[in-house]
Amino acid sequence: MKRSVIAILALVAFVALALLGGAAWAAKTKSGEVKDEFAIDNTKAFGKLTKAPVQFHHTKHNVDYKIACAKCHHVFKDHKNTWKEGDKVAKCAECHKTPIQNDGEMLSLKNAFHKDCQTCHKEQKKGPTKCDECHPKAK
Ligand code: HEC
Ligand code: HEC
Ligand code: HEC
Ligand code: HEC
Repeated sequence: MKRSVIAILALVAFVALALLGGAAWAAKTKSGEVKDEFAIDNTKAFGKLTKAPVQFHHTKHNVDYKIACAKCHHVFKDHKNTWKEGDKVAKCAECHKTPIQNDGEMLSLKNAFHKDCQTCHKEQKKGPTKCDECHPKAK
């Protein structure tokens, strides 16, 4: 009996610490909470991944590299990005619905990520542009 109480208390303490720790690694923005760093992993949308998920440092991109939210997040009206801070952020996959092949003018999910991430890295001559630098090779 006593043992199980101790076990429960230990579990509660562990969960509380995990939650506190988690909060410290997430940034609260005007548009909601987002983890400082996370793996971009759309296994569900792609069906299955042929490449490793990409580790992305959201806060570094925004704060250290000084990239505005609207450079990556958008809602288009008449081809103009009307998204502004405070607006909801939808997952890329909610609009870029086809996984690999573009759907008419609309970029596929893969091409949307590649165009967003790689175009900037190439233009700035900073950040990874080779496959394995973003999709680490399985060991
Ligand atoms: C360099 C690109 C980039 C910049 C700059 C950026 N983000 Fe993001 N953000 C992303 C990507 C990529 C995701 C993950 C999207 C996905 O999984 O579909 C994301 C996710 C998010 C999410 C979580 C959405 C969800 O449902 O999981 C929020 C909230 C968010 N960003 C807000 C912001 C805000 C506010 C700013 C500016 C202060 C900002 N972002 C700047 C690329 C960026
Ligand atoms: C609310 C719907 C929506 C969401 C969410 C969305 N997109 Fe898009 N995206 C569009 C539409 C619509 C276009 C076509 C824009 C036009 O009219 O030219 C587009 C165009 C693009 C383009 C080409 C234009 C450009 O800016 O270079 C890229 C790249 C892109 N999206 C990447 C992303 C990424 C990466 C995410 C997630 C961080 C994302 N999109 C989330 C709707 C969306
Ligand atoms: C508007 C410009 C821009 C966009 C968009 C962008 N990046 Fe970057 N990225 C940078 C810059 C600048 C660096 C810093 C390189 C340096 O200082 O060495 C960088 C560095 C990185 C790095 C290595 C260092 C780190 O911070 O982890 C990774 C990985 C990376 N980017 C992934 C991505 C992914 C994935 C996307 C798309 C979701 C993306 N980036 C979109 C500008 C951008
Ligand atoms: C700047 C970072 C970056 C570079 C460089 C990059 N990718 Fe990606 N790629 C991404 C991101 C982010 C996704 C979306 C991953 C997810 O959601 O699981 C993606 C998705 C994919 C997908 C679809 C998902 C899957 O695993 O099947 C394929 C295929 C892919 N990339 C292949 C490549 C190839 C091949 C190269 C080199 C020619 C490359 N990528 C270079 C960031 C990058």
